[in-house]
This record gives sequence, structure tokens and C-alpha cells, in this order.
Amino acid sequence: MSRGNRWARSLILLVILPHLCIEIYCSKPDPFAAKKKRMSEKVRQMFYHGYDNYMMHAFPHDELKPLTKTFTNSLSELGNLKLEHLSEKYNGSALTLIESLSSLAILGNHTEFEKGVLWLSENLTFDVDARVNLFECNIRVLGGLVSAHILATDSTNRLTKGTYKSQLLNLATELGERFLPAFNTPTGLPYAWINLKYGVMENETTETSTSGCGSLILEMGALSRLTGDPRFEFAALRALRKLWSMRSSLNLLGTILDVETGEWIEYSSGIGAGVDSFYEYVLKAHLLFGREEMWRMFQLAYIAVQKYFRYGTWYHDSDMRTGRATYWQLTSLQAFWPGLQVLVGDVTAANSSHREFYHVWQKFGLLPERYLLDHQMVHPTERYYPLRPELSESTFYLYQATKDPWYLEVGEAIVDSLNLHTRVEGGFASVRDVTTMELEDHQHSFFLSETCKYLFLLYDDSFLVNKNYVFTTEGHPLPILHSWHERLPEAYIPSNWTSIKGEEPKRASAMSMQICPASMHNCIHGNVQLESVCHIPDARDDHRCLSDEDCGVDSTSCRRRLCSMAGYCGQWRYH
Ligand SMILES: *[C@@H]1O[C@H](CO)[C@@H](O)[C@H](O)[C@H]1NC(C)=O
Ligand SMILES: *[C@@H]1O[C@H](CO)[C@@H](O)[C@H](O)[C@H]1NC(C)=O
Ligand SMILES: *[C@@H]1O[C@H](CO)[C@@H](O)[C@H](O)[C@H]1NC(C)=O
Ligand SMILES: *[C@@H]1O[C@H](CO)[C@@H](O)[C@H](O)[C@H]1NC(C)=O
Ligand SMILES: *[C@@H]1O[C@H](CO)[C@@H](O)[C@H](O)[C@H]1NC(C)=O
Ligand SMILES: *[C@@H]1O[C@H](CO)[C@@H](O)[C@H](O)[C@H]1NC(C)=O
Repeated sequence: MSRGNRWARSLILLVILPHLCIEIYCSKPDPFAAKKKRMSEKVRQMFYHGYDNYMMHAFPHDELKPLTKTFTNSLSELGNLKLEHLSEKYNGSALTLIESLSSLAILGNHTEFEKGVLWLSENLTFDVDARVNLFECNIRVLGGLVSAHILATDSTNRLTKGTYKSQLLNLATELGERFLPAFNTPTGLPYAWINLKYGVMENETTETSTSGCGSLILEMGALSRLTGDPRFEFAALRALRKLWSMRSSLNLLGTILDVETGEWIEYSSGIGAGVDSFYEYVLKAHLLFGREEMWRMFQLAYIAVQKYFRYGTWYHDSDMRTGRATYWQLTSLQAFWPGLQVLVGDVTAANSSHREFYHVWQKFGLLPERYLLDHQMVHPTERYYPLRPELSESTFYLYQATKDPWYLEVGEAIVDSLNLHTRVEGGFASVRDVTTMELEDHQHSFFLSETCKYLFLLYDDSFLVNKNYVFTTEGHPLPILHSWHERLPEAYIPSNWTSIKGEEPKRASAMSMQICPASMHNCIHGNVQLESVCHIPDARDDHRCLSDEDCGVDSTSCRRRLCSMAGYCGQWRYH
């Protein structure tokens, strides 16, 4: 139920049954309802401007070139800086349509969603001679298909009228099978590149990145859960375990490695390009599949990041072997980190780090790809802004967690500068240089799958009410299902957890679910006391409370505190 509906219901109750007006029925009117309505409409228009132009000028090719109103078959170019091995024969896979489906579902456009699903069901094939980047193809294509399949078969949202069976899942399975040869290495770490028709090419490069090996588990795991075929999840899990086994004694990973030898090539790393989604996927795999192992991995990795990469509210890069700082640079991709911190419950740290990214956004009007922290200036060559979503994503998570209206203003400033600087007649164009606002002829598919989606969800989260999703690194929602959790560890189950026989267990929001390590006594590492990964302060500094909602999460036990009979937050309820 949207806030608007709840308010309408409150009004009726107020009029008819004032004496029965108990707290839960009388949620206050949302003073920001009008702003949210106006802004969600504005974002909806942005999405359709990008989407309609893609459908008109580029579909069924991969991505739109908004300045010339033409197309690019970019799936075979993604992740390929030198644009090598471009296949003349590859004509595109409707990439932007695949990426748009879950956004159409969130916008509530049933007809267009169904039309897209049916077109892909009938016309998409992966039997093409195209060398693609495994990571990019996984997060965009496999993730897009798996998520759309789940949404299309979810009878509660009526997105399809019944002609859809499971064609997208069949396509996803076919794609997953085409991925498997990449994992056929002595280490189990996958090749970065795979030819969809012929498998791993002869003389293929053995270099790949940490995120290339560590960001497959959500999509491939979901595919295994949906098909009952464990090969996909197993391949991704084995790669992730191998990767983790290559960590240094400081629990840090490098950025570039060799899949044949399992040796590091680039020892410097951070939370940005080449590593970012490793952290994201370890945590989200824990949320989606309830794997204890993932939580333990995440906890150690997260604490190492906070210890060796963080400097105040910034994150620099460090050498995995020594922990010594290497590059003092802020990158646009790093802006996802505060969103991840919200999922962990580290809202205070998320808030301060988000403010730094937003500060740089304000300085330029958009976020440059790379900003030199030590010189307080934009990088001489990486001055572009390809419509990236990460700051919007973090803004959405922080608003969900805090309901602080300031984040609604941040979203509005982002929307305004996107419209001002990047909107053209034929869609939305990337920016080549944020200091001159010179444009580039490319609308990346993630603009529709992520940037527009997170900005819309910031103002209209009705899609998430009573539903519990994890978003992949490409913004595709995957539902948190009880049946996908092998077992829910005791410590994560709220004390009042009820499961009525024969019904789905009551879902807790991924955002509000207090995921805490049962084993973690405190976060003392060496002699350094670190900020707890799970700490949420009580609503009031004096720890007084009226209900459990006023209490946070204990930083040492990581358990949710409860409001005692005496009106204080404590770890247990004292009777
Ligand atoms: C790709 O498009 C070109 C030009 O329309 C066409 O000649 C070619 O057969 C197509 N290739 C495939 C594999 O469909
Ligand atoms: C769904 O999308 C199509 C294509 O942009 C548009 O014509 C239609 O009006 C949309 N429907 C709704 C309900 O928004
Ligand atoms: C598949 O593509 C063909 C050619 O573009 C089109 O005529 C057909 O309608 C498509 N199928 C669906 C279900 O949209
Ligand atoms: C692979 O590399 C070797 C050595 O550089 C070269 O002799 C061979 O022709 C290459 N094979 C292919 C198929 O490119
Ligand atoms: C975020 O930081 C600002 C500035 O330091 C502060 O005013 C605000 O209360 C913080 N919000 C949260 C939720 O921590
Ligand atoms: C369980 O506790 C949560 C958080 O305190 C609360 O929001 C929810 O309504 C409770 N559920 C039941 C069934 O009591």
C-alpha cells in the first residue's frame, strides 16, 4: 500500500471511528506526498524519454545513440576498452529492452512489460558469434532475464495476462550454459571473456578482475534455484571461494588476477572499479540465500575495508599486502558504498560518506569518473559521466533507512542536473567531460535499469511495500524467498517471527531486517577499535523509548535492542 492510500484510509477512520483511532491506523500524513508525486512523475517521464527513443531508433539492437538517433551493438564491446575482437556478424540482443523490463514492472506498465517479455520469448537467441564479457553479460542479460521471469510469473502483481510460460527462464538457462565453459580452469576462476557460440577463444586473455570473478553468485544462484540445476550456483560459488582464499593476511583482495595460475597481477585495490561488486555480492548472497559463509566472508572483508581503505569519510586504494595507501582517488563507482552500508546497518557511516560524494556532484553538477582527493581536482583524462546510477542508488537506500527529507532534495538536484545537462531530443546522452558538459553519443542500458529506477523508487516505493527484494548490481530485483534460504540462522529471526502453516512466512524488508553476526563480539582488530558494522544508535541519546522502534542495534552483540518495561532500550526485555 502506498503512503497515499494509507493516508486515505486514515482519513476515513478519523472521520468514522475517531475513538478507535489507535496509533497504527493513524499514521501521520506524509508532508512530502506532493513532492514525491511530482518527482516520481518527473522521473517516470525521464524513463519513457530514454525508453521510447531506444525503442524507436535502436531496438532490437543493444543501446541507443541519442545524438544521432541510431544504435550500437554494444554487448560485444562492454568491458572491452580497446574494442578488440568486434564481431561484424553480431546484430545485437535487444540489451536495453532486457534491462528495461524490471523498471517497467516497477513503473507498473503491464502492457509494455508483457510486450517486451513476449518479443524476447520469440526472438532472442544466444547462438551468436559474439565475444562478450562474462561479468557484463551476467549482470545485464542473465540478471535482466531472471528478474523479468520472476516478475512475469509472480501472480500477485499481474504483469502478464497468461500467455507467458517460462521462455525467459529457458533463455536464461541457455545463457547460463554458455557461461559454464568459462569456469573450466585449473582454479575454477572464470575467464573474463567468452564467445557465446564457441566458448572460450583460443589465446584468450587469462586476466580478469576481482569483480569479474566475485559478482556472479546472485544471478547464477537464482538461476539454479529456479531451474533446480545446481551447476550455475556451484560454478559461481567455487569461483567466489577461490577468490576469497587468495586474500592477503589483512583480508584484502587485489584488483587484477590470472585465472589459470590464480595469482594476483594488480595488488592495489579499493572499493571502486574492478572490485566493488565483490563486496556487494557477498553481502547480498547472504541476504538472498541465507548463507552463513557469505556473512562471515563479508564481515571480515568489510572490516578490512573500513580499516585499510577508509580515511575519514573517504576511501582510498591500498596495497593488499601492506594496507598502505596507493591512490587517493574518489571514483564515481564508489558511490554505491553508502547504499551497501545501509544494508549492513551502518547508517551513520553511510550518511557521512554519501555527503562527500554529493559534495563532489554539486561541485561539478554531475559526478566525474575520477577525482583526485590529494589535489582536490578532477582527473586529467577521466572526466566523463556516463549517466551512472551509484549516487542515486545510495540516496534511495539512505532515504529508506532514515526517511530524512534531505535525501529527497538530493534526488531532486540529481534529477534536475540530469535533465539540464544530459537530456537531448533523442534520449539521454553520456557526458564526456563534466567540466565542459560536452556530450557523447551513448545512452547506456543501465540508465534505464538503474539510474531511473532508483530515482523513481526514492519517490515511490510502492513496489517494495510488503515485498522483499535484493537488487543486483545492475538494479534488477530478486525476491527474498524463504525457500531460497537453506535455513534461517536463529540470530537473524526477529523474536516475534511467525510462520503460519501453509502460508508464506511473514516477510521482513531487506532494508529493515537487522542482519547481524551472532558470532561477532566486538570489532576490535589488532589494537584498533573500529566502528561496529551493525551499530544503529537508539532514537534518543538518553536511550529512553516508548516502543521497540525507538531502539537501535547493539554494536557489540549486533542484536536488535528492545524497549524495556521501564522505558529504556536494552538488549533483552526485562520483565
Ligand atoms: C546482421 O545484419 C546484417 C545487415 O542487416 C545482415 O546482413 C546479417 O545477416 C545480420 N547477421 C545476423 C547474424 O543476423
Ligand atoms: C507503457 O509504455 C508505453 C511505451 O512507452 C506507453 O505507450 C504506455 O502509455 C505506457 N503505459 C502506461 C500505463 O504507462
Ligand atoms: C519477433 O520479431 C519479429 C520480427 O521483428 C516480429 O514480427 C514478431 O512480432 C516478434 N515476436 C513477438 C512476440 O513480438
Ligand atoms: C596463439 O598465439 C600463438 C603465439 O603467440 C600464435 O602462434 C598462434 O597463432 C595463436 N593462435 C591463434 C588462433 O590466434
Ligand atoms: C547525516 O549527517 C548530517 C551532517 O553531519 C547530520 O546533520 C544528519 O543528522 C545525519 N543523518 C543521519 C541519519 O545520521
Ligand atoms: C514484530 O516486530 C516488528 C519490529 O518490532 C514489528 O514491526 C512487527 O509488527 C511485529 N510483528 C508481529 C506479528 O507482532
